[in-house]
Amino acid sequence: EQIEKGGFEHFMLKEIYEQPDAISDTYRGRMLPDKGIIRMAGVDDNIERISNARRILIVACGTSWHAGLVAEYIFEDFARIPVEVEYASEFRYRNPVISENDVVIAISQSGETADTMAAIKLAKEKGAFVFGVCNVVGSSISRETHAGAYTHAGPEIGVASTKAFTTQITVLTLMALKLAKHKGTISTSDFQFYLQEMERIPEKVKLALNSDEHIQKVADIYKEATNCLYLGRGYNFPVALEGALKLKEISYIHAEGYPAAEMKHGPIALIDEQMPVVVIATKKGHYEKVVSNIQEIKSRKGKIIAVVTDGDIEVRELADHIIEVPETIESLTPLLTTIPLQLLSYHIAVMLGKNVDQPRNLAKSVTVE
Ligand code: G6P
Repeated sequence: EQIEKGGFEHFMLKEIYEQPDAISDTYRGRMLPDKGIIRMAGVDDNIERISNARRILIVACGTSWHAGLVAEYIFEDFARIPVEVEYASEFRYRNPVISENDVVIAISQSGETADTMAAIKLAKEKGAFVFGVCNVVGSSISRETHAGAYTHAGPEIGVASTKAFTTQITVLTLMALKLAKHKGTISTSDFQFYLQEMERIPEKVKLALNSDEHIQKVADIYKEATNCLYLGRGYNFPVALEGALKLKEISYIHAEGYPAAEMKHGPIALIDEQMPVVVIATKKGHYEKVVSNIQEIKSRKGKIIAVVTDGDIEVRELADHIIEVPETIESLTPLLTTIPLQLLSYHIAVMLGKNVDQPRNLAKSVTVE
């Protein structure tokens, strides 16, 4: 097992560090910036069916559901197809309205999650076209769906999902860009630019990983916290949910993710000098609005840990701690902002002596209801 961990103390840490390679493995061979095309067999073979979808329904559980939420922003933004994201467990039991014009995207790392599988079967019965995004090749879900795309993240052993999440976002971004190009909802120059920017992501993830030691110090300060709030807006709202989930899963600290602007409808009541608030405040996407949310937290004496774009000045002055990530286009920021949140939960859990790779009560793949 020590050899499998490749010198890392835990599988989770190894998998966090594998993300630059995992992301490039996911887009390699699919993205051809020189030719200005994206090749994805499962999409190419069904391009009319998918691009003419009346709507896209995404079904998933856990971290994969968070990737689905990011995809909702990407598909609507680029391909202008209405998207709904559902917990597979709710979808399967609520007599959903599905028609033959709907496309269902099922996201699952393991490809074995029972609720997601049941949702797929239901969608198929109702005549929808079902597309799978799985990591495990040959898994039950990859076989049950009409078509699909693998994430090529490699085996993920740590129960808390890390590289599966970023590679799911990578695949779904490629798919949305491809549909957008086919539908003509994106300009050729933007399409080209996004592809080039995607190619820079692995290097930028490496840069984000360079903050590891600094994050360890932040973790040391907040490891005794009993609650933690995570806030983000737009593309980074799902990242806030995912950051909170990571902390809960492995450190057993209660954490909640919220859209930053919703804070005033509840969570703000919890903020006092004991409360760490992790805010994603990258330069792109509602930056000024997030800055004013940070001011609201500060005036209530909350402790602010902000994930910001390299070189940020405004938030630096307000926050107790800042963690920098490189700049990129807004839709790709989740691939970078997720990294420090994974590391923060990892270090807190290790410092608390928790079993990081196999947290209590959780399973890597939930094959029963
Ligand atoms: C379990 C795992 C999570 C995972 C979720 C969905 O809860 O612990 O890490 O996100 O199942 O799994 P899937 O394999 O369908 O992505």
